[in-house]
Amino acid sequence: MLHPAAGLALNEVDDRSFRRLAERVYADCGIVLSDGKRNLVTSRLARRLRDLGLADFDAYCQFVESPDGTEERRRMISLLTTNVTKFFREAHHFASLETEVLPPLAKRARAGGRVRIWSAGCSSGQEPYSIAVTVRKVMPEAAQHDVRILGTDIDPEMIRVGRAAVYPDAGDAQIPPEMRRLMFGPGPAGDAARPIAPELRALVTLTELNLMQDWPMRGKFDVIFCRNVVIYFDAPTQARLWSRFAEVLAPGGFLFVGHSERVSGPSASLFAPAGVTQYRRL
Ligand SMILES: C[S@@+](CC[C@H](N)C(=O)[O-])C[C@H]1O[C@@H](n2cnc3c(N)ncnc32)[C@H](O)[C@@H]1O
Repeated sequence: MLHPAAGLALNEVDDRSFRRLAERVYADCGIVLSDGKRNLVTSRLARRLRDLGLADFDAYCQFVESPDGTEERRRMISLLTTNVTKFFREAHHFASLETEVLPPLAKRARAGGRVRIWSAGCSSGQEPYSIAVTVRKVMPEAAQHDVRILGTDIDPEMIRVGRAAVYPDAGDAQIPPEMRRLMFGPGPAGDAARPIAPELRALVTLTELNLMQDWPMRGKFDVIFCRNVVIYFDAPTQARLWSRFAEVLAPGGFLFVGHSERVSGPSASLFAPAGVTQYRRL
């Protein structure tokens, strides 16, 4: 069925609406929707138009831009973000965390010091829980010390899944068997999904945070994972983010980025390469 005005298939995003939505998404969360993403916008949002009883994308734009549209804007961002993740993704980072990064931090924690790790853009929690199990391996008594892992994401649905902490991908071959034993508690009999062990949940706090907005956290981080997040941002937005990470990372602290990402821009001089897609704050 064709849209009467534009000659488009009903609920296909028209040029003007696509540009309006792309501007809105960029302003709200830094994600760049290039022309190639038009089909993605149509396919991910068409159902919302139907559910809301809206005739076309023009009406949807008007709604999300209206004072009543604040909640729908969050929903739209949630639908347009790519949340792909998995336990122990880019496994070399966890090897480095275990052997190089955590041992001195464990020493500090045992001497009464504070250790903070941030998984920024953590999606549904597999990344912060992979960090937590690595911490537990290095420091089995971590929960008795001042050691915390913060996971944040813009997408409230991903934070909800991460807090529920029950994963059907518990059997993922990527998870080293030793880590799998430490990572999960027993699931209901016959159910392949397994809950994260309470000892790990106690180390991890998951909360909604848009990286483009103010960061309420006080105190510096020793380690930041921000992987496969900035890939959706343009160069100026990436450069701003690197300099903000530099501000909140303790001297000597580590920054891990995704396999296709690099620290760039003016603040690159504040970081020294310290491994594959791994940096150290100078
Ligand atoms: C592809 S996932 C990466 C997850 C995990 N870091 C990993 O590497 O497996 C990207 C995540 O970044 C989040 N994201 C995108 N823009 C964001 C923003 N402005 N603030 C916070 N999170 C954002 C998305 O919601 C999504 O969950």
